[in-house]
Amino acid sequence: MKAKMDLIVNGKRLDGRGPEDLREIKITSNVIRNAAGSAYIEWGANKIISAVYGPREALPKHISDPDKAIIKCRYTMAPFSSLEEHGKPGMNRRAVEISKVTAEVFEDVILVDSFPGNEISIFIEVLQGDGGTRAAGITCAAVALATSGIPMRDMPYAVSAGRIGESVVLDLNKIEDNYSEADMPVAISPRTGNINLLQMDGILTREQFRQAIGMVKKAGETITRIQKEALIKPYQEIAEKYMEG
Ligand code: CDP
Repeated sequence: MKAKMDLIVNGKRLDGRGPEDLREIKITSNVIRNAAGSAYIEWGANKIISAVYGPREALPKHISDPDKAIIKCRYTMAPFSSLEEHGKPGMNRRAVEISKVTAEVFEDVILVDSFPGNEISIFIEVLQGDGGTRAAGITCAAVALATSGIPMRDMPYAVSAGRIGESVVLDLNKIEDNYSEADMPVAISPRTGNINLLQMDGILTREQFRQAIGMVKKAGETITRIQKEALIKPYQEIAEKYMEG
């Protein structure tokens, strides 16, 4: 049984947000020198780095697919990323699950047919976790992939929506996640509108579900803008330098 806790007081959440407010999101692209692509995200108190390698020959050989690239993903939490109350950091059952669903998001959007026999590896390392790390990790990895130049149909974003009492809220942090009635991470391809991931922990009515998806889509406009700005910024800086010179 979850302890009772007032997570919403006078319409405001504990961190001052309204029900539809995102936490602050900052993304920096190209942060790892040796990777094909990389990005770093700060999403509220979440701090996550993502690096992409490939396309390169799929190994071991027996896993390779002669028709398309295989997408590997490894999501891990650093040993210092959180309190120990959720179990051990590193590769555990939860990390295996998040790695699998994240790989599936990118299998949907990467032009895998262009790279038969190859693999593309996506690493997501949570340096500090505060709820919604799979969503923040997917949002960050999408930017890392874009910087790598690996062709994609779309640049997905992810965010979670859920329910606290009878209120539908966007982007739950860890304490809200722990005490909420429902948490639903969603990844969407903004151009096509395809849903690449939808998980649900808890129960929502049909109307609450509709409301939650509406919030996710609206937030997507902001998240996509921040992703694109992260991609453009290094080029803007170079251009500004030349203008000065
Ligand atoms: O992070 P996300 O919401 O996608 O996944 P979760 O399994 O619902 O975990 C919620 C939060 O619990 C994470 O974001 C972490 O802040 C925390 N957590 C942790 O501190 N240590 C773990 N081993 C697992 C989760």
